[in-house]
Amino acid sequence: MHTEFVSVDSVHPDIRILAQAADVLRRGGLVAFPTETVYGLGANGLDPHAVAGIFAAKGRPADNPLILHIADCREVAKLARHVPANARVLMETYWPGPLTLVLERTKAVPDAVTGGLDTVAIRLPDSVVARELIQLAGVPLAAPSANTSGRPSPTTAQDVLADLDGKIDMVIDAGSCDIGVESTVVDCTTPVPTLLRPGGITLEMLLETLGEVEVDPGIGSEDVIPRSPGMKYTHYAPAAPLILLEGEYPAKTAVLGEQIRKAQAEGKRVGAIVAAETVLSAGVVATVYGSRNHPEEVAANLYNALRFFDNQPVDVIFAEGTDEIGLGLAVMNRLRKAAGYHIIRCE
Ligand code: TXA
Ligand code: MG
Repeated sequence: MHTEFVSVDSVHPDIRILAQAADVLRRGGLVAFPTETVYGLGANGLDPHAVAGIFAAKGRPADNPLILHIADCREVAKLARHVPANARVLMETYWPGPLTLVLERTKAVPDAVTGGLDTVAIRLPDSVVARELIQLAGVPLAAPSANTSGRPSPTTAQDVLADLDGKIDMVIDAGSCDIGVESTVVDCTTPVPTLLRPGGITLEMLLETLGEVEVDPGIGSEDVIPRSPGMKYTHYAPAAPLILLEGEYPAKTAVLGEQIRKAQAEGKRVGAIVAAETVLSAGVVATVYGSRNHPEEVAANLYNALRFFDNQPVDVIFAEGTDEIGLGLAVMNRLRKAAGYHIIRCE
């Protein structure tokens, strides 16, 4: 299959180009498109055959359900059987934006989308390109992140092509995504809403809005099976083994230095993903994710930093952990999974 590459402005997109993409979607095709979080791989969310194409292109396990993307709040009534008061408050506060709500589904939602669950995940993105595209397609778009399953999510159209060139019909390029980590997933079917995946809307923001939020124990650990099916898979991982350093400064940078010296003494080629403030010894292939004090900067650069090592011959990568404040919670969730929970605690 030839993958068509088109570019639009992220704020004032050419509607004729988006109309072409919407045609491809209506005919059952696959179109990767930008959102404010990461690039999504879109298909007509009401067409089981089109949705099956997403799973095939990504190599995604069929039991991992997809998010339906809408451009108008009124669409929720067609897809969800019931919208609890908490969910309504979240929609009013954070839509359009990087928040996905899990609700009881209607029969309009195909099994292919939900992996057979009786709930559906719905999101109204902020990206103008995404919303115009959904509007023009006239159907909700099922869209996971537009990467090969298990790889870091794409934050540019070039990242999408690196994984999916020849496997999808079209990529819409609109530059890099603002937020850089996926949307927050909140289950609104529980009496107190439950955070299933940390993301663009922070836990602090949810607590401020709702007063009370459960946090799924599966988020932080390898030993608990998460309630969000997708969270149980190894994810976001570069090719070389990744080791995550967690803890306080200055212990964290001291241990990082020791680990690097030890690996180099064993003849290993060492890579590192670090904060701008961290000074490294010679011979390390390093990429900087931003300042220790700016989690939003770290989130925006995180997947790029993981993908950087696609083309770097290294034997091991050390990643410096961040504080779990604001977007730092999502960053650490992704880093722990990328490391396959191979973590060194620094004290
Ligand atoms: O920011 C995002 O959310 C991006 C952009 C493209 O919108 N999309 C995205 O989709 O990250 P994906 O498929 O990579 O992740 C969706 C997550 C998975 O962890 C999946 O298991 C969970 O949402 N999910 C989907 N439907 C669910 C449901 N009914 N119940 C619980 N979790 C669900
Ligand atoms: Mg994904």
